[in-house]
Amino acid sequence: MAIVTFGSSKGGSGKSTLCVNIGVARKLAGSDLLLVDADPQQSLTQWSALREANQVEPYLENVQRVGEGFGKSVLEVSRRYDTTLIDVAGHNSDELRAALNISNLVVLPLRPSNFDAWVFASDLRLLEQARIYNPGLVALVCFNGLSFAPAVRAREVRDMSEVLASYTGFQVAQAGVGQRAAFNRSVALGRAVLEMPEDTTPSGERARNEIITLYRDIFTRLGEST
Ligand SMILES: Nc1ncnc2c1ncn2[C@@H]1O[C@H](COP(=O)(O)OP(=O)(O)OP(=O)(O)O)[C@@H](O)[C@H]1O
Ligand SMILES: [Mg+2]
Repeated sequence: MAIVTFGSSKGGSGKSTLCVNIGVARKLAGSDLLLVDADPQQSLTQWSALREANQVEPYLENVQRVGEGFGKSVLEVSRRYDTTLIDVAGHNSDELRAALNISNLVVLPLRPSNFDAWVFASDLRLLEQARIYNPGLVALVCFNGLSFAPAVRAREVRDMSEVLASYTGFQVAQAGVGQRAAFNRSVALGRAVLEMPEDTTPSGERARNEIITLYRDIFTRLGEST
């Protein structure tokens, strides 16, 4: 039973995008999966509703949980599934802090900008607090929204890695995720990029490879088969 949160207190970093894409990858690998929407803005719920309306298979079980008793309630429902993914709102919320207390791993999407890096420093304090109760919590930073131009992307990764070098308490994903139109195209259909084989553009192919790499990275770190 693994609980993975897509969390950071920076809005728009890519939590919901990565959550739905990793969720589909996990489901396609045969896991009994639950998605938990812990954001009052309900991105995950709306994507799931669109998915159902468009009759996209496989069906992904999803629930909404916010407010009092969040941690206990999610922990209870998660016992019925192999994998639970939680998508939280983009600020320092009660749900984010509670999710960190009950998760095995948190994915922290990080865009290549100093504004995002500054907020990340405050997220590290949240991780420290969560580890008082949940010492095994793995924190995985995933660079998201990297440039499509290889030289620019390499520089973004180098610059962000330098910024992160002064902090501890987290690991960095093997590979980042690019800024790719394929993500928006798939979300608009209630799908994930892995469910868009007809998208043979470089954007589509690269997005699929990046999600497969991130998926394997997350679940290998949890000691689970992929
Ligand atoms: N790798 C990417 N390539 C292209 N667009 C992306 C990528 N990641 C995220 N986006 C876009 O950026 C915007 C914010 O992404 P998303 O909603 O996933 O972030 P979030 O962290 O969940 O935001 P919030 O904090 O509001 O919940 C969305 O329009 C999404 O489609
Ligand atoms: Mg979101």
